[in-house]
Amino acid sequence: MSNSIQHRLGLVFAMVEEQQGLTQYLQDAHTQTVGNREYITGTLWGVPCVCVLSGIGKVAASSTVTSLIQQFGVSHIVLSGVAGAADHGLSVGDIVIADQLIQHDMNVSPMLPKFEIPRTGKSRFDSCSDLSTQLRSAAEHFLANEFAEKISSESQQQFALNRVNIVNGLIGSGDQFINDMKVLAGLKLELPDLLAVEMEGAAIAQVCDDYQIPFAIMRTISDEANDSAPLDFKLFIDEVAAQYSIGILRQFCAQWTHSNR
Ligand code: ADE
Repeated sequence: MSNSIQHRLGLVFAMVEEQQGLTQYLQDAHTQTVGNREYITGTLWGVPCVCVLSGIGKVAASSTVTSLIQQFGVSHIVLSGVAGAADHGLSVGDIVIADQLIQHDMNVSPMLPKFEIPRTGKSRFDSCSDLSTQLRSAAEHFLANEFAEKISSESQQQFALNRVNIVNGLIGSGDQFINDMKVLAGLKLELPDLLAVEMEGAAIAQVCDDYQIPFAIMRTISDEANDSAPLDFKLFIDEVAAQYSIGILRQFCAQWTHSNR
């Protein structure tokens, strides 16, 4: 993210609940429909941006990000949203920033090692460490300075958000909402360092790898991928998820603007 005025940030959310309210902060907003999705171009807290709702799943995310790159000329991509916890150390409300992403449902064995993506020679895609560091610092700022004010005390109590952690590591994506401890345990056997499960990040990573676009993926834990996940997930996205996204991205954009002055 070194100096250039040509930068344009693509901001992706899978679901409207993960960004509700964000677009009111977009200045000079202009909406274009491509491939059945609305892309809103404008300036967000000083940063030239294109915001889009991809929809859920790897194909939806891939199609959206390809348009962001090809039709909207974005130079960087960030996704913000929620995920299920895949590590006992994580609780609802914790923030996971991906160092690496894997498609946990990719399996072309025995022709290729399990999880390897054909044509790439890779099972894991690295995110952009610079963008991820900036997201982490924005998340730290949000937790230290805005969290108590922006997240209602009822929500803090309801979701037991007393000591929120930020961790970096492996995020797994698949076309499956995981709500079964046995399924999760099976994944953990093969991927012991897996921190969180979601449905888009590693697809974005693959497209960004194809086009050599730097990207980062940030997820707030909404559930524990167990049998109460559907309910926990719904409550969390309805009440809290967008506040995290907006609070952290506001700080992220402020830092971006500052560093590109
Ligand atoms: N996103 C949020 N929670 C999830 C889960 N349990 N499985 C897949 N994607 C998710």
